[in-house]
Amino acid sequence: MKLRIGMIGSGGFSKMHAKLLAERDDVQIVAVCGTSKAKAEAFAMAWEIPSSYESFSEMLDGESLDAVYILVPPMSHGEYEMKLIERGIPFFVEKPLGVDIELPQQIRTAIQQKSLLTSVGYHFRYTDTVGTMKQWLCEQPLGMMTGQWMGSMPQVAWWRDQARSGGQFIEQSTHIVDIMRYCAGEIDEVYAMYSQQVMHKQFEGVTVPDVGTVTLKFKSGVIANISNTCVLPNGVGKVGITCYTQDGILEWDTERVTRIEAHQTTVRNKQVDPYRAENEAFIHALKTGDTGRILSDYEDAFKTQQVTVAAWESAKSGLPIRLS
Ligand SMILES: NC(=O)c1ccc[n+]([C@@H]2O[C@H](COP(=O)([O-])OP(=O)(O)OC[C@H]3O[C@@H](n4cnc5c(N)ncnc54)[C@H](O)[C@@H]3O)[C@@H](O)[C@H]2O)c1
Repeated sequence: MKLRIGMIGSGGFSKMHAKLLAERDDVQIVAVCGTSKAKAEAFAMAWEIPSSYESFSEMLDGESLDAVYILVPPMSHGEYEMKLIERGIPFFVEKPLGVDIELPQQIRTAIQQKSLLTSVGYHFRYTDTVGTMKQWLCEQPLGMMTGQWMGSMPQVAWWRDQARSGGQFIEQSTHIVDIMRYCAGEIDEVYAMYSQQVMHKQFEGVTVPDVGTVTLKFKSGVIANISNTCVLPNGVGKVGITCYTQDGILEWDTERVTRIEAHQTTVRNKQVDPYRAENEAFIHALKTGDTGRILSDYEDAFKTQQVTVAAWESAKSGLPIRLS
């Protein structure tokens, strides 16, 4: 029997997940819900999904679902998660969990009360190179880290609107925060400076900062800095993390991880498709009840959200924020 999957959202990342799920013979996307019937129907036709809906409640009433993928922009969370929790239906949700911390906190509490199975799209955790960096960091005392997400501004309208996307640090650099937490433990202090330099002069309605830098203090005492910008032209960018340890330097980027020591350099290229691996982990958990392969669930992702939202609060107030 194939698992019956529902999908919410019909945008760029819905296509990515639909493609991966279509490759599998143990699941079927049986229904999709979009912001309009026409969009949902077009998506359903493209991916041979039997049913399409404009109303999420109608989808839940009309279908018997084993799990739902929530693939909507940051400002659109809330109703979906709460209805799924109410009905006890497990879900996969793309990062970030929202644009603030209050709504994710309510969802988190409701999930805890039901012990519901969840998975969050912090896909970099599933990359073998991140696993290698985590392993290497266990072998050598860490001093500090720097990280960056330097790129161009995504062209979807919601992204440039602070109220709808949460801004670059909550929407994109959240991945860097999450990898650092995964590899180096919890963060207890956040201090951020953001500014608008370029993009608000180029496009209408840009309310997100386009440059920023965030200093993080970990519970271990490790200090990190993550900088981001979205001023770059398309095709030019830099995403990665550098760790400075007692033994040398670890350099991670989306393609490889490199260990640089005084007399030796070791390079490991990425072998694993993390999107495929995160889907495999979630579906394995649905089939068996074994959640051990899920590397980011709602509870864990909430802690990353706390850090990125604290950075926004710090940038607004000009003060460091302590997390407790
Ligand atoms: N993990 C990753 O690497 C990664 C990469 C890209 C996107 N994402 C995340 O996936 C999410 C979706 O991004 P995308 O690139 O597909 O965006 P998109 O703008 O291409 O698509 C979003 C879709 O959601 C629909 N939508 C908006 N509000 C909705 C609502 N309330 N209910 C139902 N549908 C709604 C839109 O009509 C659109 O079809 C974002 O949170 C984004 O951060 C994650």
